[in-house]
Amino acid sequence: MDGRVAVFGKVNVDTFLYIDQIRIGENHMCQQTLVDIGGKGANTAIGLAKLGIDCHLVACVGNDAISQSVVKKLEKTGVDTSFIKSCNAQTGKTFVVVESNGRNTMFHILGANSHLSPEMIDWTFLERSTAVFLQLGIPIDTVREIVLMSKRNGKYVYIDPAGFVDESFLEIVAYADTIAPNENELLRMTKEIDIEKAAKKLLSFGVEEVVVKLGSKGATFFSEKTSIHVDAYKVDVVDTTGAGDAFNAAYIAGKMKKLPLKDTLKLAVAASAICVTRQGTSSASPTKEELLQFLKKMEEKDLLAAL
Ligand code: RIB
Repeated sequence: MDGRVAVFGKVNVDTFLYIDQIRIGENHMCQQTLVDIGGKGANTAIGLAKLGIDCHLVACVGNDAISQSVVKKLEKTGVDTSFIKSCNAQTGKTFVVVESNGRNTMFHILGANSHLSPEMIDWTFLERSTAVFLQLGIPIDTVREIVLMSKRNGKYVYIDPAGFVDESFLEIVAYADTIAPNENELLRMTKEIDIEKAAKKLLSFGVEEVVVKLGSKGATFFSEKTSIHVDAYKVDVVDTTGAGDAFNAAYIAGKMKKLPLKDTLKLAVAASAICVTRQGTSSASPTKEELLQFLKKMEEKDLLAAL
């Protein structure tokens, strides 16, 4: 699969507070603060661009002052922003509290993200892309229409179900080629308590591939024919925010490069390993050079040869 990726999802301004440990109802001293471009749509688009994959981001920002600098920064990283619309709302925002073990707790303002209606979409993205990435932080009716139109037009469809709220999403799953939940999302979506059972349930709905992001335990791929597990790389965790988005970008990049399945999974696990060693979200995902350096350090000779 060659070509371009159309990325649909949230664009946020992420504000980070780094603290020792969160204690509800108490005062905290912050070691550091940071502002970064975030939102799973923006993070995945930036992740793809950093890996040298052509992509455009289809999203909605607000009509506030910050939206212009966000769009400019997206452009600077190589993301095509010509499909981004604006509306009369504030640009999405997320406040992220990160503890010293890297764990995060987020507070979201959906803002403009919740206004991305099917009518706002420039459907010429269908002529300009071979693959489509979606997450669920935008209205479910919009997700449904994009998925159906994309499949009708023969696109590869990858869904990150972060933002899953109710069962209305499950009827859409059948149309996806790849669905990539984390462990919590998978179990919540399927109402199962076992990962394998849950993944098989999703496969029974008609999705081709279920890729489960397991954080410090790596990731497991399931299809009707096979299952493959890749362990996580051992790294010093600083901030886990955005690791799933770095994973999405690298997995799609592996697909675009037609890498073997196990290599695609390894590439994604490696990208998220690099991401967790850094603060922030979109700025924490690796460039192609950084990913190659990391794989060299991890002595992944076969994977490096395949790239
Ligand atoms: O996956 C991390 C992202 O989730 C953050 O960038 C934040 O904006 C939230 O949408």
